[in-house]
Amino acid sequence: MVPRYPDTRFVNLDSLTYAGNLMNLAPIEQAENYFFARGDIADREKVRALFQEHAFSTVVHFAAESHVDRSVRAPLSFVHTNVLGTATLLEEARAAWNADDFGTGAYRFHHVSTDEVYGSLGPEGFFSETTPYDPRSPYSASKASADHFARAWAQTYGLPVVISNCSNNYGPRQFPEKLIPLIIVRAMQENEIPIYGAGDHVRDWLYVEDHCEALETILMSGVDGETYGVGGEACRTNLEIAHDVLDCVDRALGRSEGASRALVSFAPDRPGHDYRYAMDVSKVRRELGWRPRRDLTQGIEATVAWYLEHETWLEQATDETWRQWYREQYAAPA
Ligand code: TYD
Repeated sequence: MVPRYPDTRFVNLDSLTYAGNLMNLAPIEQAENYFFARGDIADREKVRALFQEHAFSTVVHFAAESHVDRSVRAPLSFVHTNVLGTATLLEEARAAWNADDFGTGAYRFHHVSTDEVYGSLGPEGFFSETTPYDPRSPYSASKASADHFARAWAQTYGLPVVISNCSNNYGPRQFPEKLIPLIIVRAMQENEIPIYGAGDHVRDWLYVEDHCEALETILMSGVDGETYGVGGEACRTNLEIAHDVLDCVDRALGRSEGASRALVSFAPDRPGHDYRYAMDVSKVRRELGWRPRRDLTQGIEATVAWYLEHETWLEQATDETWRQWYREQYAAPA
């Protein structure tokens, strides 16, 4: 959006923890309407100072701890960022914005969330905007809590909030702890690929640029107080996804057909592992005209090609010493 909205100032607040990577923003780093601020969304003074300096009309809140396995090992950072951080952003928006202008379109707070708040589906059915919340991991509990706070600020104070709940994202630049980049990177290195349990868990895969288009659509045209479910309409078992991605890597690297499938290794299941997610996207289709544009084959091909072409990114993104150095060069600490 930075080049497409030259009259809008964009301020990116990011704490640059392990998965944050300024290299991902190199194409816009020099843009005159783009500003970077390093900081924690739960740091109230920092957030307040940014509101004072920039007089935001709009907040798009993507900042979150998002990896379920990490939330199993260390849940409290999820409570800090996802719960306290969200409440802090909501409260500082309320403090900075003029309540007389709520409901006039002068402001918008878009809270970006996940379909995991709805819990785990059996073999049939879909999540929709009216599915009762039933989070089951520390991650999904923290996001569910954040959604509740966003709705509470909308109901109690009239803050103009929209919420989107999306399915699993994949695509270029994703930190390789998530399933799809993990498969690609391990296949490139010919390392074992751990698939939890029997690999029969189902996820609905959404290409990241489709998600970005959905967010822009909802930000611009969504209705205050509404929630929109966003998904890729591409449900697969983890084993199917692993095979699709590995076959694509084999084609790209000229390996014999099916060779990398041998790298799959079944690993002990994740505790509390949600069986199936699948999002019904008919509301956002019907009301806002958005639909996912890339199918899984196109999305996986684009993603595999990107990782194969960006080995330096991969080395640097996963090297903490390098990332520390980079942060110091390019991002003055808050
Ligand atoms: P993940 O990318 O962690 O997303 P989420 O847990 O939010 O859905 O995992 C996607 C699926 O892949 C999930 O069912 C867990 C499974 N998985 C594995 O089987 N092996 C792995 O190494 C990882 C990271 C995930």
